[in-house]
Amino acid sequence: MRVLGIETSCDETGVAVYDSAAGLMAHAVYSQIAIHAQYGGVVPELASRDHVRKTLPLIREVMDTAGLSAGAIDGVAYTAGPGLIGALLVGSALGRSLAWAWGVPAIGVHHMEGHLLAPLLEDPAPPFPFVALLVSGGHTQLVDVEGVGRYRILGESLDDAAGEAFDKTAKILDLPYPGGPELARLAERGDPRRFRFPRPMTDRPGLDFSFSGLKTFALNTLRTTLPDAADPAQTRADIARAFEEAVVETLVIKCRRALQATGRQRLILAGGVSANRRLRERMNAAITAAGAETFYPRPALCTDNGAMIAYAGWQRLRAGQHEPLCFAPRARWAMESLPALEPRTLDNN
Ligand code: KG4
Ligand code: ZN
Repeated sequence: MRVLGIETSCDETGVAVYDSAAGLMAHAVYSQIAIHAQYGGVVPELASRDHVRKTLPLIREVMDTAGLSAGAIDGVAYTAGPGLIGALLVGSALGRSLAWAWGVPAIGVHHMEGHLLAPLLEDPAPPFPFVALLVSGGHTQLVDVEGVGRYRILGESLDDAAGEAFDKTAKILDLPYPGGPELARLAERGDPRRFRFPRPMTDRPGLDFSFSGLKTFALNTLRTTLPDAADPAQTRADIARAFEEAVVETLVIKCRRALQATGRQRLILAGGVSANRRLRERMNAAITAAGAETFYPRPALCTDNGAMIAYAGWQRLRAGQHEPLCFAPRARWAMESLPALEPRTLDNN
């Protein structure tokens, strides 16, 4: 079965073709960074308009790269939520219409389920069950995963998501949008011993997160040290490093705790922040030391992309799920409300 995947939930247009026998045949992402950079963040209406311009040409490009014509597609998957409603409408309308025109089934995919299943595109793919740490711009969640649609939220952020905390702290440090990767780059030059930031909510039991205090801590540190700093650029780098260390260590502590609480042997990382090099290295070392395994997608499949949507869509289409002709994207959508699929092994039928 061959599925076209379309992702338009935020500021990236992603398109891919996943084939259950051949794997990922082609994928491409068009980033809107240049459009939103001058505003310091995503402007929803501009995002929607750009998806209108870019999605169809990107579909043509990906189909050409894969050497496929329309008749070779067996199903169309598009992100139906959560995300920016106007942006979601573009991919949903286009995806649902293409499926109708081609006479194939369509499926609206939950964006976070896409992230959660992305590590299964890699080799080796983690077998179920596992614990998933989802860390994106809008979500920070620890999920116990028994299979597709069999999700139990173990903990989540009570305020800012990890990615949001990266982005907001980056702004405090005068870094351009998108802040997360910029802050990570600056942190490379930072001294980890100069400042120590708190590890929020690690001193009490539980698996919830709270990252909003860290940006305030960064702001206060900047205000108190910058006026007398001999080298302001180095001070900024040191703050970036201290912030990154705090987020990474907090995530590592909670993941170890989640594995202990569930007795699972495998942890997967997914979502934009899981592209962070320090997080990947530290998590890998800590989880290996605890006798468990860590899995994560290649960095290009951590951030938003069409491949994860094609793959998650394929999982649901092959189980017989599909959408009626009407489509209804949702800005908010609880992942736990998704229908569970029958347990099956990682076969490709
Ligand atoms: O999953 P994603 O691409 O989009 C959402 O679903 O939100 O995640 C984007 C988030 C942004 O907050 C971005 O700053 C963050 O992931 N991010 C990073 C890195 N790359 C992306 N944060 C820290 N380090 C990175 N290398
Ligand atoms: Zn995402």
